[in-house]
Amino acid sequence: MSRIAYVNGRLVPIADATVHIEDRGFQFADGVYEVVAVLNGAMLDWPQHAARFGRSLRELSITAPMSEAALSIVARRVLAANRIRDGLLYVQATRGAARRDHPFPAHAVPTLVMTARPFDFRVRTAQQKTGISIVTQPENRWQRRDIKSIALLPNVLAKQSARNARAFEAWFVNPDGTVSEGASTNAWIVRKDGTIVTHPASESILHGVMRGTLLALAREHQIRVEEAPFTVADALDAAEAFITSTSVPCLPVISIDGNPVGSGVPGPVTARLAEALWAEVERQTGWRR
Ligand SMILES: Cc1ncc(COP(=O)(O)O)c(C=O)c1O
Repeated sequence: MSRIAYVNGRLVPIADATVHIEDRGFQFADGVYEVVAVLNGAMLDWPQHAARFGRSLRELSITAPMSEAALSIVARRVLAANRIRDGLLYVQATRGAARRDHPFPAHAVPTLVMTARPFDFRVRTAQQKTGISIVTQPENRWQRRDIKSIALLPNVLAKQSARNARAFEAWFVNPDGTVSEGASTNAWIVRKDGTIVTHPASESILHGVMRGTLLALAREHQIRVEEAPFTVADALDAAEAFITSTSVPCLPVISIDGNPVGSGVPGPVTARLAEALWAEVERQTGWRR
């Protein structure tokens, strides 16, 4: 079955799906996006994704292409057209097409594209048992990382540097030694006293939907939580570390730049949080491993 994309009001085979070459997304990365997990045919944490999408658009003064309710109807149509049971939905909006000039065009109509592809989340439950490795690199992004912008070149380069080093993820490290987040994930440690620590939801990081879900679950499970910056040294001195995102719900970090974290194997607190997360996934979607 050929994949189907939604582009500006139409569902089209992906091979025929096009946007204008003067679209500002192509010319300037002038746009925002969301990635939503789909399990058992249901969108996980949809209201949070829709709200963040709206906020990213507002922060950049891009006109919302449609209401949240309409967006969710189109999303469901895309999932149905692609017969997605377990997968990832991509939603992307740009300021639209206009003659190339930096200032906002007077009358641009926003471009809206949605695609979906299958993804087997059991890949992640397998990785949970082995854990993953991290490399670090200097933070080199702009100061508004809370906006889910499509300008992802530093993230792309960071992820490739991780792949080149046979690591799963790269963590961005600030000049003061603190870790902001990963190339496409939020970063966490579990201190030796059992407290979980993650960077505050400031303009310095993306406010991950999974981060929010996990914080709520940790509190529910009476796990102490601190939203505070931590350094690479703190992570290497921690009992455990882990990463979260929509497509990487909760994976233990076992090494950073080749140095072991804790005992160098996935730890019990991360495992407990991952269990809580999978239980939440099942509660929302009925999905089971
Ligand atoms: C830079 C960055 N941080 C964190 C995340 C995790 O966000 P979420 O949990 O909403 O997927 C992402 C996801 O793409 C990301 O790109």
